Amino acid sequence: ELSPIDKAKFVCAKRAAQFVENGMRVGLGTGSTAAWLVRCLGERVRDEGLHITGVPTSTRTAELAREVGIDVITLDAAKRLDLTIDGADEFDGAFNLIKGGGGALLHEKVVATSSDRMIVIADVGKEVETLGAFPLPIEVIPFGLQTTHALVDETLVSMDVLGRDSSLRMDGDKPFVTDEGNHIIDLHLKRIGDARQLAMTLNQLPGVVENGLFIDICDTVVLGFGDGKVEVRD
Ligand code: A5P
Repeated sequence: ELSPIDKAKFVCAKRAAQFVENGMRVGLGTGSTAAWLVRCLGERVRDEGLHITGVPTSTRTAELAREVGIDVITLDAAKRLDLTIDGADEFDGAFNLIKGGGGALLHEKVVATSSDRMIVIADVGKEVETLGAFPLPIEVIPFGLQTTHALVDETLVSMDVLGRDSSLRMDGDKPFVTDEGNHIIDLHLKRIGDARQLAMTLNQLPGVVENGLFIDICDTVVLGFGDGKVEVRD
C-alpha cells in the first residue's frame, strides 16, 4: 500500500504518461515523481509496444529508463524533443517553478527548454502562492567556490526576497557533486518577490552555471492528490 504522498506522485505520473504518443522523443525528468513516470512509460513500452526514445536528465534516470526498457539517446542525437515530463519542488499560479531539490536542475533546464512542451507532475503539496519556501538551488563551478558563494550572498542583499541565508549542499562530509561535476548552493529565501529578475541576476554571476527557477518553461501541470484524484491544468 502506498502512503498518500506516494499515491499522489504515482497517479499524476500515470496520468502524464498518457500524453506520450508513439514515435515521440521524450525528456525524462529526475526525482521520485519522475521515477514513477519512467516506470509507467516502461510498462507502456512492454504492454502496448509503445515506441519512444527518451532523453534522461540525470544518470539516475538514465539507469532506470534502461532498466524498464526505454531506448535512451542523448539530447544532441534527439535534437528537438516533443515533450518533457518532470517533477518540481514548487509551482505557482503562472506555472513558474523551483526545481533542483534532487540536484539535476542544469540538465533538467536544458532538456525542458529543448522541448515543444513541458508537463510538470506534482503532488498537491508542491502548489504555492509565491515561490521561495523551498530552498532555491543554484549550480556553481568548483573553481573559486567560496568566492562565488560570497558573491551570491552579497547579491541577495539587493534582491526582492525575504530570507537571505544560503548553504553549500553536502553529501556526507563532502560537497554534493552534480552530473556536470559542479556543486549546489541552496538559497533559503522564504519568499521570492520577482522570480524572473532573480533568475536573470543569479545567472549573470561568474561561477554560477544555472539556477533552479524555471520561468515560462512549463506548459501543463498534472496534479496528484493523496486520495488518487488527478487534475490536469494548462
Ligand atoms: C530534481 O533535480 C528535481 O528538480 C526534482 O524534479 C524535484 O526535486 C522533485 O522531486 P520529487 O519528485 O522527488 O519531489
